[in-house]
Formats: sequence, C-alpha cells, structure tokens
Amino acid sequence: MSKQNRIKLLLDILTFAAFLIAMDPHTSGISIHEWLSIAIAATVIVHLLLNWDWIVRVSSRLFSKGLNGSRANYILNWLLFVDGILIMLSGIMISEAVVPSLGLTLPQNFTWRSLHDLSANISLVLMGLHLALHWNWIASTAKRLFTGGEVITKPMMERKDAQA
Ligand code: HEM
Repeated sequence: MSKQNRIKLLLDILTFAAFLIAMDPHTSGISIHEWLSIAIAATVIVHLLLNWDWIVRVSSRLFSKGLNGSRANYILNWLLFVDGILIMLSGIMISEAVVPSLGLTLPQNFTWRSLHDLSANISLVLMGLHLALHWNWIASTAKRLFTGGEVITKPMMERKDAQA
C-alpha cells in the first residue's frame, strides 16, 4: 500500500478517536476537551491537504454531468467543514481552559454555549454520513494496512494487460 494512504488512514483513525473523546467533555475533563479539540483542528487541516487533489478535482467539475455521487459527498463535506468552524468558534467563545490560560477573558453569552452544543450534535450526524460515504476506501485501506497487502496500482495493471 502507498505510504500516503497508510499515513492518511492512521491520521483519520487518530482524529476520529479524538473526536469521540471530544464529544464527551464531562468524562475527559474540560482541559483535555479543549486542548484535544485544538489538536483535532490541526489534524483536520492535514487531512484536507492530503485529500487536496480530490477537492480540486471535484470543485472544478462540480457542474459537469456524471458526478452525482461525488457532488453529494462534496456538499456534505462543505457542511461538515462549516459546522466544524462553528464548533471551534463557539468553543473558543465559551472556553474555560485555553483562552483563560492565554490571560484573555471573553464576554460570556448563553448563545455561544447553545451554538456549541447544537453544532457538536450536528457534527455527529454529519460525521456518520461522512464515514458511510467513504466506507469502501476505509475498509479496503484498513484491510491492506493490517494484512500487509499490496495495492495493485493502475499503471501496474495496465502493464499486466499489455503483456497478456
Ligand atoms: C472537535 C471539536 C469539539 C467538539 C466535538 C466539542 C463537543 C462538545 C460537547 C458535545 C460539549 C457538551 C455540551 C453539553 O454539555 O451540552 C462541549 C462542551 C464544551 N466545550 Fe466543546 N467541542 C469541541 C471543541 C471545543 C473547543 C475548541 C473548545 C474551547 C477552546 C471547547 C470548549 C467547551 C466548553 C467550555 C464546554 C462546556 C463544558 C461544560 O462546562 O459543560 N470545545 N463540547
């Protein structure tokens, strides 16, 4: 399997595990909740950069025919992205650990707390759909990662065909 796919999958597994921990701040404690969520934001940026090819490809062909599955996927990914921004923004506005540790005090407002709660709940649904839509890639890459299997890349297959 390509090194890039291995890195992608391991990073995704770590990010997802951290996301599940972040969804339960009362168990982890607020400090872990906030610092871990900031680390998640960093891994999400790497996740986007590692999948940048797909983003550029689908963005440029968004209005062309024959892209139905990818278009739904693309819209869902945008919703997840915007929701993620809302979670982080509202989280920072109600921060009890990260922001005070920087010596800052932000005006407390119940709206930010409700927005944080709502956007976190929405992210759970969107994340479930995101996983479902990418399940083929996740399952096949995980299989190869844990069984040490090799990927037959397209050029290799073409070469085999050419020899036959
Ligand atoms: C992946 C990102 C995040 C997720 C999924 C997430 C999720 C949650 C959830 C589910 C709650 C519980 C809401 C409730 O009790 O009704 C919560 C509470 C909270 N979150 Fe986040 N959050 C994230 C990021 C952040 C960030 C970046 C900060 C601050 C820097 C933050 C600060 C807080 C605070 C202060 C609470 C209130 C805890 C309490 O006293 O009840 N969160 N978050």
